[in-house]
Amino acid sequence: MLLAFGELRSKPRCGRHCRLSLRFGAAARSCASTGDSSAAFHDARQRVCGPALCYKQQQMTPPPDPLNPTRKKHRFNQAWMHEHVTDHWVHEAKAKGYRSRAAFKLIELATRDRLIRPGMTVVDLGAAPGSWCQVVRERLGRSGRIVAVDLLPMEPVPGVDFIQGDFREDATLRALEAALGTRKVDLVLSDLSPNISGIESADQARSVHLGELALEFATGWLQPGGDLVVKGFEGEGFSELRRQIQARFDKVHVRKPKASRDRSREVFLVGKGFRPL
Ligand SMILES: C[S@@+](CC[C@H](N)C(=O)[O-])C[C@H]1O[C@@H](n2cnc3c(N)ncnc32)[C@H](O)[C@@H]1O
Repeated sequence: MLLAFGELRSKPRCGRHCRLSLRFGAAARSCASTGDSSAAFHDARQRVCGPALCYKQQQMTPPPDPLNPTRKKHRFNQAWMHEHVTDHWVHEAKAKGYRSRAAFKLIELATRDRLIRPGMTVVDLGAAPGSWCQVVRERLGRSGRIVAVDLLPMEPVPGVDFIQGDFREDATLRALEAALGTRKVDLVLSDLSPNISGIESADQARSVHLGELALEFATGWLQPGGDLVVKGFEGEGFSELRRQIQARFDKVHVRKPKASRDRSREVFLVGKGFRPL
């Protein structure tokens, strides 16, 4: 028991341990002097130090937190918040009345690749909070039609038909098809991105899957000559998604708009000139 105590004390200590070490030492000594078993010793340590400290001392892996598998959320949130309040595009979006900085990504893509013209029918996948809808609405003027889909609710954007649902589910697809009726689509936009879990391979696979679903929808609904924009992340499966788009469009461009953060692997695949089979 004394050996175990010695071993534990020689491990690197966290701040909390430093504060509690005197109390912990007392508990250990009391266990040792009464000849308690190691289980009782462990219980005593848990009572004094709490489970978090015990994990550290024993170098055990704590049980996974399903909402935060990498346990980096707190630091990430602080960094994100700092970046957000100092971000040029966030200020621009606020000044111009856009719901998010993402508006400037579409403005750059649409200007460079001449994507939006008055009178078009546009489908916006992954639309909330709605800044791409705002940009499309501005450029369509009073004409044309926009149907938008998102898992999350979205404050109404005038002149946009919104469907709340999971785009991976048949019910959502049927609602979208019902909203379009017999009307073919001129432009499909997909800014769909999965909830980031922090597990890179899983996030990448989900993102590619959403991209493939957007392409599948586009190939069923685009007019000949129509255009597609799909958000993707460079990595596993991205080149294959690009090849699939290339097979059905006259041209494919990989674009990284200025408003897309440099450190992000986010890029946009722009398919120009849909070719039906
Ligand atoms: C980057 S945001 C879109 C921002 C939007 N383009 C804008 O300008 O405001 C990505 C969106 O994709 C949505 N999304 C992710 N997976 C989805 C799914 N399976 N079905 C529908 N929407 C989904 C998220 O809810 C999120 O609102």
